[in-house]
Amino acid sequence: MTGHEHDASMDESDGVERTDGGTAGGTDDVALDPWGSSTVEDYRKLFEEFGIESFDDVLDSVSQPHYLMRRGVIFGHREYERVLEGMADHNAAVLSGFMPTGDPHIGHKLVFDEIIWHQRHGADAFSLIADLEAHSARGLDWDEIETHARDYILSLLALGFDPEAGELYRQSENREVQDLAFELGIETNLSELQAIYGFDGETDVSHMQSVVTQMADILYPQLEEPRPTVIPVGPDQDPHVRLARDLAARMRTFKVTEAYASFETDESNRELLGAVYEQLDGEDEAVVRCEAAAEFVAEQYSAPELESSLRAAGKEPLRHRVRFLDRNADEETFTALIDAIDGEKRVYEGHIDAFDLGRTDAHELAREIEVEHGGYGFYPPSSIYHRFMTGLTGGKMSSSIPASHISLLDDPQTGYEKVKSATTGGRDTAEKQRELGGEADDCPVYELYAYLLADDDDDLATTVYEECVTGERLCGDCKEQAAVLMREFLNDHQEKREEVEPLLDSLDIGL
Ligand code: TRP
Ligand code: SF4
Repeated sequence: MTGHEHDASMDESDGVERTDGGTAGGTDDVALDPWGSSTVEDYRKLFEEFGIESFDDVLDSVSQPHYLMRRGVIFGHREYERVLEGMADHNAAVLSGFMPTGDPHIGHKLVFDEIIWHQRHGADAFSLIADLEAHSARGLDWDEIETHARDYILSLLALGFDPEAGELYRQSENREVQDLAFELGIETNLSELQAIYGFDGETDVSHMQSVVTQMADILYPQLEEPRPTVIPVGPDQDPHVRLARDLAARMRTFKVTEAYASFETDESNRELLGAVYEQLDGEDEAVVRCEAAAEFVAEQYSAPELESSLRAAGKEPLRHRVRFLDRNADEETFTALIDAIDGEKRVYEGHIDAFDLGRTDAHELAREIEVEHGGYGFYPPSSIYHRFMTGLTGGKMSSSIPASHISLLDDPQTGYEKVKSATTGGRDTAEKQRELGGEADDCPVYELYAYLLADDDDDLATTVYEECVTGERLCGDCKEQAAVLMREFLNDHQEKREEVEPLLDSLDIGL
């Protein structure tokens, strides 16, 4: 663990931003550390190394996508499809949390907007103040936490979060979250936290507790009933997302997989068996038997383990089936599942095979029986990831460097001036700029337009970009226009903050 000076939600971007969803070269350095000074120099690595998927793949399925989605600021996701389906059925949730370590700033605004967008599109919305985490991982005292927490919530409300429809809480006040955290702690051990977060013998227990608390935050929307949930965060939070997805699975009573024979196989052999089955099935009228499949495997593939399992199974038919593996079931629940499976089934020591059930139905059934018998039935939480903003002074946007970022509480005139003195992607002289065009892709000012100032107006964002790269636009005017927009935005936002103050005071969230 490194120091506490770093603000994870907007930092980390030394990398070169592209509006088209790609990124420029850069080094191979990818480190994801929620409390450290992790850097994301090449977003592509996140796909390759950590299995985050490209948002481009799902963008077409989003109806009325947010401008952050359209402009590639939201660049990645994990299983977001499930949330889109859930939202269509009014059965989905969104949740994100904020450590109250300083003023809310324009980096946090991205996440506020993402929560609000999902709320407006039918998701049940949750937002929380991670006060336990701020206290244990960042050492903030409770007075500071109180002040910052109010400021975060005021901005969230001012931007349009509906607290009647959604839920706001602080970790320290939410008993259900703490109870769930305790349960999740039973499934989490020290070696795992060491591997994921680099914790060691010096790490204090409260810091570890703040991890399981965040796990509980992430699963909290599913406490009443399981449903698809999206967690909008920066990529630095991905280790948390991965652990939460793991824990969601570990808490399940049953695991559902597909199989072709009664013996267990690993994922790759299962795929191989699927292929073998497809090639042999229907070749002649007779059923495919394991011993015949063994011959086929011996001829066509080199998979000695699979081959010997098939030989051992002898005359057993090779047939597609869904398999319910017993993870945490007691006898009563196991029996209830057996009874609930329609059609042909076979019961084994730790699993049940069903021959007439589709995969989706099987998943639903497993969840239903689990929930009926007191289990949680969690879906693995989904996530979406946004790019970090570049600092106005170039390099990282960091809350410890005031000139590098714009706080939502900055005086509007200060905001104006910070934009006016920002670094740009412009050329040395106006002449060169006219000739070569500016480098909008490397310009913090262009980012301000794309991430915030252009708001829903794609034409404005495109015009700035086009005019910049063709040399029609010069940085002085461009910054003036941006600075004025920033001043207006801050004015407007701060007015709205004042308006929602009574609303905040009427909320029962322990502030
Ligand atoms: N760890 C997050 C941060 O550093 C805050 C947080 C706590 C959070 N619980 C969460 C974020 C749940 C997303 C979901 O800011
Ligand atoms: Fe950036 Fe605008 Fe200059 Fe282009 S013209 S480099 S977008 S400040």
